[in-house]
Amino acid sequence: MKIRRHSVIELAEHWTVALSGIMLLFTGIGELPLYKRYYFILNIPGLGWAGDYFKHLTLHYIFAIFFLAAIIFHVLYHGIRGDKGLVPKKGDTGRSVKVLLAMVGIGEEPPSEKYLPEQRIAYLGMGIIIAVLTLTGVVKIIKNLPFVYMPPFLNGVNTLVHTLAAFLFLLALIMHVGVVALFKSNWPLLKSMFTGKVDEKYVRERHGIWYEELKREGKIDE
Ligand code: HEM
Repeated sequence: MKIRRHSVIELAEHWTVALSGIMLLFTGIGELPLYKRYYFILNIPGLGWAGDYFKHLTLHYIFAIFFLAAIIFHVLYHGIRGDKGLVPKKGDTGRSVKVLLAMVGIGEEPPSEKYLPEQRIAYLGMGIIIAVLTLTGVVKIIKNLPFVYMPPFLNGVNTLVHTLAAFLFLLALIMHVGVVALFKSNWPLLKSMFTGKVDEKYVRERHGIWYEELKREGKIDE
């Protein structure tokens, strides 16, 4: 039996943020502009344009619209519904260590809610980074308006924070994909990010607390 883990709306939110986020990183690095320095990138078929600052800037704006729209939707939608599954709980740090150790074969993994404790911590971390990225990004959009003057010092600080946050976003993305891809125990979650569903057996064995909740709600037959 399969159990629904993500709605179509949640999948659309995740993949809009993921794809536009990856493209924002690519075009943001292009604005530095880094690709011109490493000519082999410009020689890759189809990437000849990657040395053009204004093309990156335009694309950065377009992907930022998708990214921002998905983030605002995420906050409003889950805020109004009162979803708390990914909000960190007391004791998550200790339990995350246990989950991560179990992933490398040390000790037993404690039963989890719908989300693993390390996912809740990752969500908070990703949330803080995205908040800083989007706020400093919006300040950059405002200062680019022709009738707005921003003192160079403020602009410099804002740009520095935006670039540092983008670097942390890249690191967080690498860790996020790494934890999913490298550990077989997480593969059912990867599948669920496309199908929205997981096997009942997986839920019973790994997400014992969520399993009991689903049983209480009558979503699983005894
Ligand atoms: C900018 C890019 C991305 C962002 C901001 C992002 C964000 C998130 C967040 C906040 C979660 C929920 C908590 C967690 O598991 O950490 C999540 C879950 C997940 N993401 Fe991503 N993600 C991104 C890219 C990706 C990519 C490229 C993949 C593909 C490998 C991926 C696969 C997953 C999976 C498998 C889950 C677990 C879902 C579950 O628990 O059922 N993500 N993502």
